[in-house]
Amino acid sequence: MGRVETLGTLLDEAVLRFEAAGIDSARLDARLLAAHAFGWDASRVIAHPDHMLEPGQREAFEALLVRREGRESVAHIVGQCEFWSLDFTVTGDVLAPRPDSETLIEVALKAFDKDAAPSILDFGTGTGCLLLALLSEWPEARGLGVDISEAALAVAKNNARRLGLEDRVRFQMSDWDGTVDGQFDLIISNPPYIADGDFPALAPEVARHEPRLALSGGADGLDCYRALGPAIARRLAPGARAFVEIGFDQGETAAAVLTSAGLEVLAVHRDLAGNARVIEAGASKET
Ligand SMILES: C[S@@+](CC[C@H](N)C(=O)[O-])C[C@H]1O[C@@H](n2cnc3c(N)ncnc32)[C@H](O)[C@@H]1O
Repeated sequence: MGRVETLGTLLDEAVLRFEAAGIDSARLDARLLAAHAFGWDASRVIAHPDHMLEPGQREAFEALLVRREGRESVAHIVGQCEFWSLDFTVTGDVLAPRPDSETLIEVALKAFDKDAAPSILDFGTGTGCLLLALLSEWPEARGLGVDISEAALAVAKNNARRLGLEDRVRFQMSDWDGTVDGQFDLIISNPPYIADGDFPALAPEVARHEPRLALSGGADGLDCYRALGPAIARRLAPGARAFVEIGFDQGETAAAVLTSAGLEVLAVHRDLAGNARVIEAGASKET
């Protein structure tokens, strides 16, 4: 016999299953996934716990619930993530944009005037979130996003089109600056920086479901900074700035790597939690 079920009982059941799977944000996630499964907005889910499930709604929700129990992030399940108040499409080929990375946007914006039109190079663009957020703030700016992953570049191109920024941005396949020509007023990057030994401690959402190519910084987490330092030094126009995201404990070590590549470290900016998050660098005065 079919049970008559309400949305409220469906959510309660999901919360129990999510808690059993070790998920902290169980109720919030259940609501977001129900909203996605039903094609509703989240406020409608909250406002209608007595809604009687319609044919197919339980099944649609169950498919998402199983993925979340397997510790796939909500962003990857719904295929979308907000960053800098913009909506980005997310697939299994890219890192979901992180709120911490908004620190890079805040500090980069302060380095140029509101009506600036810098040429921007984004190393390891992924979803394109950093580059597209900056282009959304500077209507005259233009940018190049590079990534070694063709699949990630397809996601970035799609995001540029959906945000109406495709006329001011190009994306190309490159191993850091391998296929890049010229120099830029602003270089940004959030490279992979997880040390091999830190992978076991990562949340399952990251370790199991995000691309290793977007995460792994080698034995000590600094491999990408070693490659990026010289690439940034080659691509900085005179007087230009670079902003590079780092792990919370990499302020000194990553700064030393960039300095040894001939860059001058101008500041290490902290995120809202007070952790070192972004290195600001320029060309060394000695070079
Ligand atoms: C941590 S993710 C950052 C993505 C995005 N910029 C963001 O902030 O969410 C790092 C990105 O660097 C790319 N990547 C890794 N190695 C690379 C390389 N050698 N050259 C270019 N991109 C690379 C990965 O494919 C991934 O998209």
